[in-house]
Amino acid sequence: MIEMNRDLCIGCGKCAADCPVGALHIIEGKAEFSGPCFQCGHCVAVCPVRAVAIPEYEMDEVEEYVPETFDISPENMLHAVKFRRSIRNYRPEKIEGEKVTDILNAGRYTATARNRQACTFIFIQDQLEEFKALVWENMPDILRSLRKDAPRYAKTFERFYEKWKADPKDDNFFYNCPAFLVISADNHPLDGGLAAANIENMAVAHGLGALYSGYMMRVISTSPALKKWLEIEGKGVACCMLLGYPAVTYKRTVPRHGGHIIRK
Ligand SMILES: Cc1cc2nc3c(=O)[nH]c(=O)nc-3n(C[C@H](O)[C@H](O)[C@H](O)COP(=O)(O)O)c2cc1C
Repeated sequence: MIEMNRDLCIGCGKCAADCPVGALHIIEGKAEFSGPCFQCGHCVAVCPVRAVAIPEYEMDEVEEYVPETFDISPENMLHAVKFRRSIRNYRPEKIEGEKVTDILNAGRYTATARNRQACTFIFIQDQLEEFKALVWENMPDILRSLRKDAPRYAKTFERFYEKWKADPKDDNFFYNCPAFLVISADNHPLDGGLAAANIENMAVAHGLGALYSGYMMRVISTSPALKKWLEIEGKGVACCMLLGYPAVTYKRTVPRHGGHIIRK
């Protein structure tokens, strides 16, 4: 699982000291792996001489630490968090391929419980019209299920459906977003949400905006046909997100409550 290059290893013990499951030991001046381990990669990251590899992973992806790239000041970080807004009005441009790659990388590099990396990211842009058509086509079935199981959602979605039927541009599920992301995660309930937050931050860094859609989570969770199209049959929906370039410019932050904060 973990490969030690004995020629490079200097026996410093940093990998053994940082391994969360105690799977590494220094024996006769060299690090040795004795498993089991969940491949968190701390041994790769901490080794001063790049002596550690995990053959199952793309080791070419590993980047060296460059101090200048950690230039997000605490002020800028908080500013970015405060300035982020839910976007419900998008410009028509599609999201460029390299930005999509960055967004998805931000998701898949996010922490997961026991490093399971079990999130599935379904990014829909080229086939968004097909997906939207399927959502509306299945809406009568979805409404039938919701009337039994979640009448409040049924009421809201019935209103959305009537509005959309009167004018397909009046769409409270997708607004006019050019891209839509579904995160499916069956591991820890936090996995998908944490990935979503990093994805949104990455999107914002690229000048894009996002809207979390609890409504679309409910729609997809209720519809076997949509889950089949998304290739997530039998799996949970952890997050739905609209993505695209905002057509709105916000000039300032918004106020918030003081927060329910307990400091002891
Ligand atoms: C988990 C979650 C689900 C949400 N679902 C929806 C939704 O279905 N439709 C919608 O218009 N906004 C949705 N929102 C956006 C919230 O309404 C929004 O965050 C809130 O109004 C504050 O606005 P801001 O995000 O611009 O600060 C959701 C937000 C979160 C965090």
